[in-house]
Amino acid sequence: MLVLGIETTCDETAAAVVERQSDGSGRILSNIVRSQTEEHAPFGGVVPEIAARAHVDVLDGLVAAAMKEAGVGFAQLSAVAAAAGPGLIGGVIVGLTTAKAIAMVHDTPLIAVNHLEAHALTPRLSGTLAFPYCLFLASGGHTQIVAVVGVGKYVRLGTTVDDAMGEAFDKVAKMLGLPYPGGPQVERAAATGDPKRFAFPRPMLGRADANFSLSGLKTAVRTEAIRLAPLEPQDINDLCASFQAAVLESTANRLSVGLRLFHEQFGPPSALVAAGGVAANQAIRGALQEVAAKAQTLLIVPPPELCTDNGAMIAWAGAERLALDMIDTMDAAPRARWGLDENAVAPAGFANTRAAY
Ligand code: KG4
Ligand code: ZN
Repeated sequence: MLVLGIETTCDETAAAVVERQSDGSGRILSNIVRSQTEEHAPFGGVVPEIAARAHVDVLDGLVAAAMKEAGVGFAQLSAVAAAAGPGLIGGVIVGLTTAKAIAMVHDTPLIAVNHLEAHALTPRLSGTLAFPYCLFLASGGHTQIVAVVGVGKYVRLGTTVDDAMGEAFDKVAKMLGLPYPGGPQVERAAATGDPKRFAFPRPMLGRADANFSLSGLKTAVRTEAIRLAPLEPQDINDLCASFQAAVLESTANRLSVGLRLFHEQFGPPSALVAAGGVAANQAIRGALQEVAAKAQTLLIVPPPELCTDNGAMIAWAGAERLALDMIDTMDAAPRARWGLDENAVAPAGFANTRAAY
């Protein structure tokens, strides 16, 4: 089973060809990602209109390159998959329309993939991860704990009520004058900072639900930065370290509650799986490792290039769906908002215009 995957929901244009083998494992034949970081850097964040135009400019060339690298012709494809949301709608339209055109011309099934589902299923590429497992998804747009019960079967156990975790890292970086994207910059600065210098709040600690909140913590960092200004390099490092320490403690607590809720509803998970750009953070990985060990479960973190947005994850989710005959029609719609769990409602006090709840 050969599937072409297309990803255009945010600021990465990506195309990949993945083969699903008869034993249920996947093999990545090509996985090409073109980041738009340079186009957006002057603005300190992703500009939707610039993103959509950049996707249009490069997507057909990227698809051709992914097919060539895989050594595959369009006639050999079993399906073409595109992320149909959630994300910046202009970009989603570019990717989904391109996939529809390829599907139509080559008479190939179309699969409209939920971008979050692709993050959720990617660790199954190895062929060894069984359902159900507990997913911690933390990126620039999302922060969720999800029970992955089967393909298309997801139960949201926790979510952020305000900022996404990656978004909070990006905003803290921006207020401290660090370049975009801020996550890796904050992690680097934190490495030589004092995590105890500032006693920032530990959001949601001890609550019975498994939700996250990051905007109050972000504001606490801003208040401290303003009080200290002008900032010396050591102040910046200490602010980053103290911020990251608060995120770690809050995340560990929220995940231990999430795993408990998982256990109550589904029994023991086969693993705790981390995905999304924030999972690239080594300190966060360390905290997850401790949480998993305490809950006597395995921690699985896909390699960094599969944690951040890419085409192989879309192709793989397409292959998982195709194997179950879950194909879509040509009127599949692009969606700016598209939660993984269709029964989930916005948590009390939900205040985010960017993230899906
Ligand atoms: O999954 P991703 O590549 O794209 C989406 O947002 O969907 O995640 C990007 C986010 C950004 O907010 C970025 O700052 C954050 O992940 N990130 C990190 C690290 N690397 C990337 N956050 C904290 N520490 C990192 N090392
Ligand atoms: Zn993503």
